[in-house]
Amino acid sequence: MFAQVPLWPEQASTIAPRVDAVTSFLLALTTFFTILIFTLVIFFAIKYRRRAENEVPRPVAGSMRLELTWTIIPLLIVMVIFVWGTDVYFEMARPPENALEVYVVGKQWMWYTQHVSGQRQNQGLTVPIGRPVRLTMTSQDVIHNFSIPAFRVKMDVVPGMTTTLSFTPTRTGKFHLFCAEYCGTNHSRMVGWVTVLSQSDFQQWLDSPRADGSAADAGRKLFQKLLCVTCHNRDSQRAPSLEGIYRTERPLDDGKVAFADDEYYRQSILYPDKQVRAGFKPIMPSYKGQVNEVELLQLIAFLKALGPGQTPPRTEETGPPAVTPDPQPSSKKKQ
Ligand code: CUA
Repeated sequence: MFAQVPLWPEQASTIAPRVDAVTSFLLALTTFFTILIFTLVIFFAIKYRRRAENEVPRPVAGSMRLELTWTIIPLLIVMVIFVWGTDVYFEMARPPENALEVYVVGKQWMWYTQHVSGQRQNQGLTVPIGRPVRLTMTSQDVIHNFSIPAFRVKMDVVPGMTTTLSFTPTRTGKFHLFCAEYCGTNHSRMVGWVTVLSQSDFQQWLDSPRADGSAADAGRKLFQKLLCVTCHNRDSQRAPSLEGIYRTERPLDDGKVAFADDEYYRQSILYPDKQVRAGFKPIMPSYKGQVNEVELLQLIAFLKALGPGQTPPRTEETGPPAVTPDPQPSSKKKQ
């Protein structure tokens, strides 16, 4: 009966064997000590049992050797666990710079994923074999947890902040994707599949035609629709230009310096008065409640990709903020 029940999920990522090694070590260690302790308890109970009614045991004053032994040996063992576990954790937590980036939004009760180049999926994620993948994740409502057992990775997906998760698949095929944090009535249905394709199949999938543009394209449209471009353009005195600022240092008006990562963009859109760029006034309104998490990720994707001279012109689809009748429906570009 138990022959069909696998002890471990299959190993399908580079980190999986390493996680299993640590877990096996911990299991072996706890098994060894459990057996040792129970054996000794039984052995001592028999060996030192009371043999006569008036028997009084010899008093024990203490033993420095014993004290040192049971302090130093456990110390060495837990240090091994600490160093080994930390090493594996850091490999998980630090994806290489060239990692394939995918945005993930969790909401009651589905997973929504989008590649930087545009492909969107519900309850699914498609990635290539052998290439590091980095997920940038957030939640639209409550705390979820993105978990792929075959890859041995899981990470909380939390409303109001972004978390990341990375892995490198080593096998093609379909693997379970779970929500591993109870998040309401249909938590158990918040499941899907991770599809790992060969490099060429993945490229084909990536190039397949689709109705909507890339995340950055959608973000570009939002940048115009929300009239961000009215202030954030190169000629504006009111707000800084946002071209080419990703992963640069941003001096703030309080003398501190912020680093323009994903979280910086997010905070700046939702809470613009918290980190004000040096030389500018805190006049930007908050967009909290005006953009949902998906739109926020699209805006961030656009801003990260925005290079010198690429700020869209004000006149293209939006015009100045006052009155803007849509010129002609047919002028809308499909990309
Ligand atoms: Cu989402 Cu459980």
